[in-house]
Amino acid sequence: MLQLLPEVVVDKILCPSMMCADYGSLKDSVMELEKAGTDIFHCDIMDGCFVPNITMGILDIKAIRKYTNKLIDAHLMIENPLNKVDMFIKAGADLIYVHPEAEDHTKETLNYLKSKGKLAGLAINPETTVEMIYEMLELVDYLLVMSVNPGFAGQSYLEFVTGKIKALIALKDKFPYKIIVDGGITLMKIRELSDLGVDGFILGTSVLFEKEKSYLEIMKEIRGL
Ligand code: DX5
Ligand code: ZN
Repeated sequence: MLQLLPEVVVDKILCPSMMCADYGSLKDSVMELEKAGTDIFHCDIMDGCFVPNITMGILDIKAIRKYTNKLIDAHLMIENPLNKVDMFIKAGADLIYVHPEAEDHTKETLNYLKSKGKLAGLAINPETTVEMIYEMLELVDYLLVMSVNPGFAGQSYLEFVTGKIKALIALKDKFPYKIIVDGGITLMKIRELSDLGVDGFILGTSVLFEKEKSYLEIMKEIRGL
């Protein structure tokens, strides 16, 4: 039987990037982030091939799953994800993002995720255009628009991506996906992009982690923008 996942209905969908969290006290971080108002826990999975870095894996998702009932996403920055998504589903991910740049037949993967009752996510690199993904959009629940080249936290938002975000927002009448922006997201960017119609944000080192203020204070500030 397919399990129906709860729809996230909030003004701004807030997704802390867990690779930026303090792993020495992962349980406390998850609990504190949940109390602060996390909507989706964002897990960056890298294979050292599709991107030049290796970060989280299935064990991290399993660990986070133990401490929260909120949605967990797996942002798969890995080559040929289709034959690996089952591992992430089993580990507890509700929403799985795959990159069209990492495989030949992404629609097949998106269809597979839906057949498993999971949310189908498409993550696109800064240089991937709307035309390149147009045929996939009918299957997408969540569209993750990368505003940095994937692989590392702490990079600056690439301004040229905003034009594409506007074009993707304009297509929301036709396709009911949610748009989440990932990379270099600051308070200023959240204000600018939510005014345009972006649904949610990945909160990493640019706004949430290793700051003087608590997660609760920062996320309250974001909700109040
Ligand atoms: C980049 C990652 C992001 C990143 C976002 O490849 O997908 O999730 O951690 O955080 P900052 O704010 O550090 O760019
Ligand atoms: Zn990410």
